[in-house]
Amino acid sequence: MNSDEDWIRWGRQDPYYAVITQPRFRAAALTDEARQEFFDSGRWHAEHVLGVCRRLAGDAWAPRRVLDFGCGVGRVALALAAHAEGVVGLDVSPEMLAEAQRNALARGVFNAQWRQSDDELSAAEGLFDLVHSSITFQHIDIPRGRILFRHLLQRLAPGGAAALHITYAKAVHADTFGQPPAPRPPQAPLPGALARPPHPVLRAFRKDAPGVAASANLAVPAGDPGMQMNAYHLGEIAWLMQAAGVRRFETEFTDHGGEWGVFLYFTRG
Ligand SMILES: C[S@@+](CC[C@H](N)C(=O)[O-])C[C@H]1O[C@@H](n2cnc3c(N)ncnc32)[C@H](O)[C@@H]1O
Repeated sequence: MNSDEDWIRWGRQDPYYAVITQPRFRAAALTDEARQEFFDSGRWHAEHVLGVCRRLAGDAWAPRRVLDFGCGVGRVALALAAHAEGVVGLDVSPEMLAEAQRNALARGVFNAQWRQSDDELSAAEGLFDLVHSSITFQHIDIPRGRILFRHLLQRLAPGGAAALHITYAKAVHADTFGQPPAPRPPQAPLPGALARPPHPVLRAFRKDAPGVAASANLAVPAGDPGMQMNAYHLGEIAWLMQAAGVRRFETEFTDHGGEWGVFLYFTRG
């Protein structure tokens, strides 16, 4: 279930709303106030992340190189750039990157580079003192996300800090501790039944699609691209961290409309 096509379309069609799905961030509705609010939220987030990382890595910690994976239009990366020598923002959507570049120029930010992402993170050369990703892994299917998570861990410099967000459960599935029920086996069509394409709104709810038990698309209005929401296995993510030599981590729970997640903070000693 590659989601890149959806994100390329989101970047072209409605980049701010795709980042924060509130009607005031729709391309057709975006006012100067809403844009300000959007970037303020990124600044608050960046300051919070830097505060947690400083507490974990020591008062002397100051990131020289920052990597923001899934940077979107630069909401957080632009704020992080004010605290670093350089920021690399990676994204799969060229139009998100182009908008991030426009936002950087409009704000006089000249130490950020916006680069096309791939599954090897080949555009992020070298090591980084801060590796950050917010509200991005949730949109990437789990087998691919695990690999990307591992690549991000490999980009963390000794003495560096990471702040990585994943979703792990859905509040709605109380009976299964947040995990979506196992996919139903495909039903054989009744003899003589007409093949009918799914209703466009139902199309967004492919909860029973084979092999995607931990994934479900958000309900998006017809005309919008799809938006996958994936629930990662926290144990697998912990395994990746421990295998990479992480000794301890700190978490903050997140709840975006019932999509439960964690921000994972850790350092590389
Ligand atoms: C919800 S937005 C978050 C943007 C930004 N992190 C923020 O907090 O403002 C998710 C971003 O991840 C990007 N994205 C989705 N799949 C990706 C992938 N496989 N690799 C890199 N970026 C991806 C999307 O294009 C989009 O810009």
